[in-house]
Amino acid sequence: MKVNIELLKEFEKTLDTIHPEKGKIPIKILGFGEISLVFEILDDPERLAYKRIPIFDNEKQVKRHLWAYNEYCKILNEDIGLNLPEHKALWFKDHKGQIQFYCVQQKINPKAVGNKVIHNISDDEIENLIILTMRELKKVWTFNRENKIYDVGLDGQISNFVVIDYDHNNPRINESSKLLYLDTSTPLFRKNNIEAMEAELFLKSAPSFLRFLLKALFVQEVVDRYYDWRLVTIDLIANFFKEQKPEIIPRVIRRINRFFKEEADTFKIEPITFEEVYKYYKNDKMIWVIFQNARRFDRYMKTKLLKKTYDFYLPEKIKR
Ligand SMILES: Nc1ncnc2c1ncn2[C@@H]1O[C@H](COP(=O)(O)OP(=O)(O)O)[C@@H](O)[C@H]1O
Ligand SMILES: [Mg+2]
Repeated sequence: MKVNIELLKEFEKTLDTIHPEKGKIPIKILGFGEISLVFEILDDPERLAYKRIPIFDNEKQVKRHLWAYNEYCKILNEDIGLNLPEHKALWFKDHKGQIQFYCVQQKINPKAVGNKVIHNISDDEIENLIILTMRELKKVWTFNRENKIYDVGLDGQISNFVVIDYDHNNPRINESSKLLYLDTSTPLFRKNNIEAMEAELFLKSAPSFLRFLLKALFVQEVVDRYYDWRLVTIDLIANFFKEQKPEIIPRVIRRINRFFKEEADTFKIEPITFEEVYKYYKNDKMIWVIFQNARRFDRYMKTKLLKKTYDFYLPEKIKR
């Protein structure tokens, strides 16, 4: 995979994180998460997706992260058997001497991403998609059980899975459809019980006055839940609230509980209830709303009052 670093340096020079699409290098936003921005460079013959992660203060930090990223992708793909898009991570110092870290992937069809797909298929097929997703998750937790060195976590959100060979005009999801896993930029694994990623980095985009609070209340909780298959599954189900499809949740829960009984019996996972998914969703929503609002306030202080630059792209209000 060929990545043009000079082009990215050029991009950084005129990037306005408030209006990222208005810089000199024309880009189109493909998606964004809580801290990252994923975009393509228009007229790029390589058809790549760039994920910009502006959280590193020094070389030691970014080098460790690069190691963790490569290791995570390797474990997911070679040891666990998940399909990943072709990928490469890189970093450089921009014109201001700031470290910029990018995860670059082959661009995939945006319509084939799970959270788009579920709005375009029947309820039966949503059920199929969920089971395919659960089988991918099962590979991860089977690996965790069978090896002594690594503990691997995964973000099982539906927006992290892509249906391979998806045809938007004739969408079919059946038992033999294949999935790709996208969200590899947060290396979630522990080697001999040591977290590969510096937990502090999760906090990097939180405004400084909030950091100590988040640290005390949420960070360990937020990180830990990615290592627990049952909690990852609750998170997956709660996506249907966020995607404004709550009516399908009871059916999804029934199907997943059947999956646990029939296909993952030896993991002894307690059946999931609607109440706990709902409670989880409310709690999670609250965490992110506090976080997003505090970041907006922080951005306002920095850019308007202190006339400094603000490193992150903040999406418009996300409907949850
Ligand atoms: N390689 C890609 N090609 C096209 N779109 C992508 C690609 N990678 C990510 N995206 C889009 O960006 C969104 C966020 O990317 P993801 O890697 O899941 O980051 P986050 O950690 O912010 O959730 C995805 O749900 C998807 O819509
Ligand atoms: Mg994601």
